[in-house]
Amino acid sequence: MVTDKLDGLYREHLQVMMRRADRVLGECGFDALVVHAGSAPTQFLDDQDYPYKVNPHFKAWVPITDNARSILVYRPGSKPKVLFHQPDDFWHKPAPIPQGAWTREVELLALPQPSEASAHWVKLGRTAFIGPPGEFDAAEAGAVNPAQLLNLLHFDRAIKTPYELECLRRASHLAAHGHSAARAAFDAGESEFTTNMRYLEACQAREEDLPYHNIVAYNENAATLHYQHLDRVKPRLLRSFLIDAGAQYRGYASDITRTYAADVGVFSDLVAAVDAVQQDLCQEIVVGRDFREVHLTAHRQLGDLLHRIKLIDVGGQDALELGLTNVFFPHGIGHLLGLQVHDVGGIMGNSAGAERQRPEGHPYLRLTRMLEPGVVVTVEPGIYFIDTLLARAKSDARRAHIDWALVETLHPFGGVRIEDDVATSAAGPENLTRNAFAACAS
Ligand code: GLY
Ligand code: MN
Ligand code: MN
Repeated sequence: MVTDKLDGLYREHLQVMMRRADRVLGECGFDALVVHAGSAPTQFLDDQDYPYKVNPHFKAWVPITDNARSILVYRPGSKPKVLFHQPDDFWHKPAPIPQGAWTREVELLALPQPSEASAHWVKLGRTAFIGPPGEFDAAEAGAVNPAQLLNLLHFDRAIKTPYELECLRRASHLAAHGHSAARAAFDAGESEFTTNMRYLEACQAREEDLPYHNIVAYNENAATLHYQHLDRVKPRLLRSFLIDAGAQYRGYASDITRTYAADVGVFSDLVAAVDAVQQDLCQEIVVGRDFREVHLTAHRQLGDLLHRIKLIDVGGQDALELGLTNVFFPHGIGHLLGLQVHDVGGIMGNSAGAERQRPEGHPYLRLTRMLEPGVVVTVEPGIYFIDTLLARAKSDARRAHIDWALVETLHPFGGVRIEDDVATSAAGPENLTRNAFAACAS
């Protein structure tokens, strides 16, 4: 029989989930927990559903990511019970009851009818419900998604268990294969659309399996931070390629960006320089570091880089203070990663839900917490040539600090972003992404 180290790790993970649940249920005055997997809404005036996205609280307990209307019931002191939705349906193929080592750790039952579910918790006492509110009866309304309970769970979720870390490693490995195939497609001169298809094929994924829509951007399109189109037509001249694409393993995400230049020159130099800054910043992912400081360090380092290439006429600290780095690097340096690509809890100051403020003038930073062992983040510096931000800078005092001729030279390349997923540990940063790329290449 094939054994997988995840089997043992899952057992320990479930113990952690149960301990956390025991504590927060006790603190919030509940006797039991019900977590609904959610379901997909039906399209307006249609009989088809939108793609289904599982409730992250549900997949935190069990690796079931594609079976809507399943429900987890947990009472402290008992094995978690999974009600696996299995309707009598001849239009769709009901999913088979999962097989696998992890299923031994829970009580797994078929749920033919959602209406039969409540019999599993009516006698459990005061029950907290987590999931899309529409999934619960009016009678349960008072205890659906209680804020105190969610805050406690969301704060804890930043600390990944060894099982979660292994799932995140594997999500990076999957994506590394996709990235390698996508790069080959770009090198072969394929369109954005075809390059995306090559990525999906290499990851053995369809789009709805991904943690977010791939960003596959050539030339000027790389200046749009979340570029969402896939051009079917190949550009006449290929200059640059930015790909931001991840994968999921048992519901855990990777979030990876690489940028390539078609030719050696000013843009390939810029890519190499951002890559060097990015690797430096990855060394900042250590226990006890305030992530807001990592973000501000990124601004200073990118400002120094812009100064070195003579795009601006001041160093990093001045560039940060003058709002110059914001023109070229308008997003946060990273965010929590896990069950969601932008995992919850990034700006929580404590488990009671207090916000830990962003540095003034940095509204898009999604993570302001201290780094602790087990916290997994992205590190994603970038330099972009974004028309709307350049126009704003041109209309104020920043205009005098920028070499507009160099901006014009670099503008057709769109921008650079390099993004890795990095785990904080007592032994130092673990770069899940670079490790995965290295393994993929060997
Ligand atoms: N792919 C979205 C992000 O990097 O945050
Ligand atoms: Mn990201
Ligand atoms: Mn990304």
